[in-house]
Amino acid sequence: MKRRIFSGIQPSEVIHIGNYIGAVRRWVEMQDDPEKENIFCIVDLHALTVPQDPNALRARTLELLALFLAVGLDPNKSLLFVQSHVTVHAEGAWLLNCVTPEGWLKKMTQYKDKSQKQETVLTGLLDYPVLMAADILFYDTHEVPVGEDQKQHVELARNIAERFNHLYGETFIVPEPAIAKAGARIMGLDDPSAKMSKSLAHTKGHAVRLLDDPKEIERTIMRAKTDSGSEIRFSKDPAKAGVNNLLTIYQALTGKATEHVEADFTNARGYGDLKKAVAEVVIEKMEPIRRRYSEIVSDSAELQRIMRMGAEKARAISEPRLVDVKQKMGLIMTA
Ligand code: AMP
Ligand code: TRP
Repeated sequence: MKRRIFSGIQPSEVIHIGNYIGAVRRWVEMQDDPEKENIFCIVDLHALTVPQDPNALRARTLELLALFLAVGLDPNKSLLFVQSHVTVHAEGAWLLNCVTPEGWLKKMTQYKDKSQKQETVLTGLLDYPVLMAADILFYDTHEVPVGEDQKQHVELARNIAERFNHLYGETFIVPEPAIAKAGARIMGLDDPSAKMSKSLAHTKGHAVRLLDDPKEIERTIMRAKTDSGSEIRFSKDPAKAGVNNLLTIYQALTGKATEHVEADFTNARGYGDLKKAVAEVVIEKMEPIRRRYSEIVSDSAELQRIMRMGAEKARAISEPRLVDVKQKMGLIMTA
């Protein structure tokens, strides 16, 4: 039997090279693995857990779908859909809420971080990991590829699955997180001590965003924070985090082995040369994506068709599990 893979990404802010290297690009590679059946979801209901401008949210959802296609996700190989188009997610989250102790949610690190930044903390923000558990569990998912930051949420989904199975009998597959080793954490270009983050995507110099033009990419990388030395090598030394981050991006995008990456820079005359080389590689990778994106995003009929097709396939997978769960929990199903 094929292993089912489920992952999601929020349509909040434009995605950056951290999201690309740590998540979306890996998804593209996975879709040619014959052992895997891949489902990738644009989680717009999750985006609502912090205040959103309705028109901007709609625009970013379509933008993200177009970007999925532009980077090479293929709706005939992977199941691509928008979360709110399939009611199983919201309905399933409610049912799972009723087996999830609130203490589990209050312990989540992301909740603790994010709730501190909000003037009013919405109930949805606390409940976010239960919705994520519904995404994963109602699709009988085996494996959830995410960055390090989401591991705790996948573990919570495991706990919910186990608790449900214990209370109502074997129902859910207990999913495994799959955390990438290389490139799992791309750091901010302006501050290599913190991870590159969507919420800072508009801070000057912080991130290369997927639709930035070459000039902008070059400007951002040339001003990336490094150190006062001149040694170009991978390093865990916090003082060299900036150089290490640039090398990590270079390695992720060229696919070269560590010693070949370092060898590329043995004759470099300082960090300027390193930055130029990184900018070149990033531009080379991003240009075709940007070109394809601009063709795809203007074809709204095609985007609509892909969303409809995705939602239909997603319902066919998740609805039977929802019926099963409702029955087990004591709800009456009409014929
Ligand atoms: P988010 O930006 O939090 O919506 O994350 C979307 C996906 O990108 C998740 O799988 C994250 O783990 C991954 N991701 C986010 N930021 C980074 C980063 N700086 N480096 C690598 N992966 C990231
Ligand atoms: N919470 C994840 C993030 O912000 C996105 C997400 C929602 C997700 N549902 C998911 C990831 C299900 C994997 C599986 O990155």
